[in-house]
Amino acid sequence: MNFTGTNAHGLLKKHGIFLSDTTISALFDQNPDRFREFSCSLGDIIFDYSKNLIDRKARGFLIKIAEQLDLKSKISDMFLGVKMNFTEGRAVLHTALRAEDAESIKVEGRNIMPSIRDTFDDLFRFAEGVRSGTYLGAAKRRILDVVNIGIGGSHLGPMMALEALRPYETPLVNFHFVSNVDGTDIADTLKKLDPETTLFIVASKTFTTGETMANAAVARSWLVSKLGASAVERHFCAVSSDARLATDFGIARDHVFSFGDYVGGRYSMWGPVGLPVMIAVGERNFRALLHGAYIADDHFRRADFKDNIPVLMALVSLYNCNFLGVGAEAILPYDHYLRYLPMYLQQLVMESNGKSVDSTGRRVKYQTSPVIFGDEGTNSQHSFYQLLHQGSQKILCDFIVPVFSHNEQGGQHEKLIANAVAQSAALMRGKSEEEALAELKGAKIPAEKIMRLLPFKTFEGNRPSNTFLIKKITPETLGTLLALYEHKTFVEGVLWDINSFDQMGVELGKQLAGKVEADLAGPGVGAHDSSTAGLIDIIKELRKI
Ligand code: F6P
Repeated sequence: MNFTGTNAHGLLKKHGIFLSDTTISALFDQNPDRFREFSCSLGDIIFDYSKNLIDRKARGFLIKIAEQLDLKSKISDMFLGVKMNFTEGRAVLHTALRAEDAESIKVEGRNIMPSIRDTFDDLFRFAEGVRSGTYLGAAKRRILDVVNIGIGGSHLGPMMALEALRPYETPLVNFHFVSNVDGTDIADTLKKLDPETTLFIVASKTFTTGETMANAAVARSWLVSKLGASAVERHFCAVSSDARLATDFGIARDHVFSFGDYVGGRYSMWGPVGLPVMIAVGERNFRALLHGAYIADDHFRRADFKDNIPVLMALVSLYNCNFLGVGAEAILPYDHYLRYLPMYLQQLVMESNGKSVDSTGRRVKYQTSPVIFGDEGTNSQHSFYQLLHQGSQKILCDFIVPVFSHNEQGGQHEKLIANAVAQSAALMRGKSEEEALAELKGAKIPAEKIMRLLPFKTFEGNRPSNTFLIKKITPETLGTLLALYEHKTFVEGVLWDINSFDQMGVELGKQLAGKVEADLAGPGVGAHDSSTAGLIDIIKELRKI
């Protein structure tokens, strides 16, 4: 069953019509305690969802929807290893990577916790060797550059987390991320490197992904051409679910760090895929990241839905998306170090919930994942915020605001925070015709011009947003924040009755790319529509293949 089949859905729909006659600002006028009633906290994070067109009654119905869909037992099923990824017959246990108190979590009857702990011991030992300089390359020199070669979940998670935790990073090693099959990516990176002091991490859950395999092959040839084949062993390591494919590639078995297929690619940065982060910030900080995520896991499992941040995040999104027609969500971190977060969440949310068939295989009759986009504040204020304020569609904004910065820089952080807080207020309040008129009159503009300008100067307001106020971005708060978004994504999948854990939609493009590549390399052109065939012909002609 999905949210539309619950009896609370009907009640909320009726109530939503009533709410549509009011505004978010009016809800604040009616209830002086609204901020306190519509926000909750977890550790050093406050989640404020009061700037949404939701009142107590609507929240009550939303929570009822979650209860009527038996969300509580679905949450517990996920943590226990039930095969929530039903199309691929897999458990969904990225949470096991940070399960501090679990002695036993079983997959196919086998307790996976001992092997998770052993893998972490191996990872931290290896990472510490690279960090401290005791791990040496083939020429007996320490590692100064680490290159992560991976894509999607094997790229975005570690890249985002490493950037977020820059203040905790060792200054002795440089980090590079190569993902694109565009040869420029690897070529540009290799130019900067000395093979004797470079370590490549080939990160691929499947160890078959075309982009990663192509880049890894280039990196290996480069290294072999400079240091000889015997150097591969000291300069390559791998993180993968398929240790055999990694060793076939030439990577020494004790440099292959594996994880089970119960960890999805976009949920994998908590384990071996986090190796660059472990090298950068060390074991203590990486464990603090895991602990932060564990805090969110524990909260998600235990908190009442009325105080449960990921559940509320999902319900607020559902309400905006399916009752108010909001089709996009903007992720707006006011922290330079979090600038890759929007990109990371794009994969997490859209690869998880960009689906249009339900668990029975029937086409859904409602909107599922909104489009996720975003960028850091304040840069984005000077690019796409125009649309957020005056565009013809409403967008749900998540403002992510650390109260303290790692670089306070004489008053700059206050300016940054002021912008974030002001933006959420401006989106909600807007500017009425009367206010705009008064402003224009104050500017002493001719009356005729004032009337012409008035429609352009008014803001309808009533635009929804959430604010995450975070004391400071630390390994722990980052872990909590990311896990909150993971669980929000899962809850949305339950509400929409879709499988949030497969990604079959990425296959078709890959298959066709294989055919086009064969056409580009061969003498003829296979069966295609005239546009595709025409484009292939011209490319071949220009490249004289
Ligand atoms: O784009 C599809 C996808 O399978 C993602 O889900 C995954 O994160 C990415 O490709 C990389 O896959 P792998 O880690 O197996 O190379």
